[in-house]
Amino acid sequence: MRVIIEPDYDRMSLWAARYIARKLKEHSRSGESRPFVLGLPTGSSPIGTYKELIRLNKAGFISFRNVVTFNMDEYVGLPEEHEQSYHTFMRENFFSHVDIPAENTNMLDGNAADVEKECRRYEEKIASYGGIDLFLGGIGADGHIAFNEPFSSLSSHTRCKTLTYDTKVMNSRFFDGNIAAVPSTALTVGIKTITDAREVMILVNGHSKSRALQHTIEGGVSQMWTGSALQLHPRAIIVCDEAACDELKVGTYRYFKDIERGNLEPMSI
Ligand code: GLP
Repeated sequence: MRVIIEPDYDRMSLWAARYIARKLKEHSRSGESRPFVLGLPTGSSPIGTYKELIRLNKAGFISFRNVVTFNMDEYVGLPEEHEQSYHTFMRENFFSHVDIPAENTNMLDGNAADVEKECRRYEEKIASYGGIDLFLGGIGADGHIAFNEPFSSLSSHTRCKTLTYDTKVMNSRFFDGNIAAVPSTALTVGIKTITDAREVMILVNGHSKSRALQHTIEGGVSQMWTGSALQLHPRAIIVCDEAACDELKVGTYRYFKDIERGNLEPMSI
């Protein structure tokens, strides 16, 4: 596992966006006709990354025309046009600002009549593209990735999950602080869906995520901290800021600072 420690949120976002940009460039230069398949999250963590990707796209440095995206999750029962649906989030914060064809963007339908069928359809569609090349994600304060709450199976696939009270409290900030307005269930890719991607990159910023980061990288692999499943992934990258490192051992912090020293590749594009 790589852990990239950047000074603050903005630098973390730049690193992540430029890493993704470099992957897209490499893919288009390889002459492969199949699209690059990108897994995407919502939340406050990826907003800076999206902004930089949008800037690089508008500057003509990267294109999303041959990119297919799969989002991680969507609330159940929230109309797609609701201002807090993940469909709305993605349209407003990313899709409407880049050159990605609408038909290349995939999101779970939280209003499907048969949610199990919808989850199966999603997994089959991911498989039809040959899997996900790079899955970008954030992390919850309790260590969840996508909506894989603590004690989710580490071999789970896309399914309907009940949200914990803690997650509803955290996400109520997007619903005018009204916990009752936060849906109680969501459709989410599973831990296995994420770790099946050829690369996984998780953004972790701020002191509120420091406990999650500590358990994710220093603790054992455990269903209590579902992000810890990344320890078994051959190409997992955590991109974090200094504040998120508050709970790490000094030795862990120094190790990753040392090993990544001078490794400025994505920033140099
Ligand atoms: C939600 C999302 C996760 C996200 C988490 C953290 O629970 N389902 O994908 O990582 O929130 O959100 P934020 O980035 O806003 O802290």
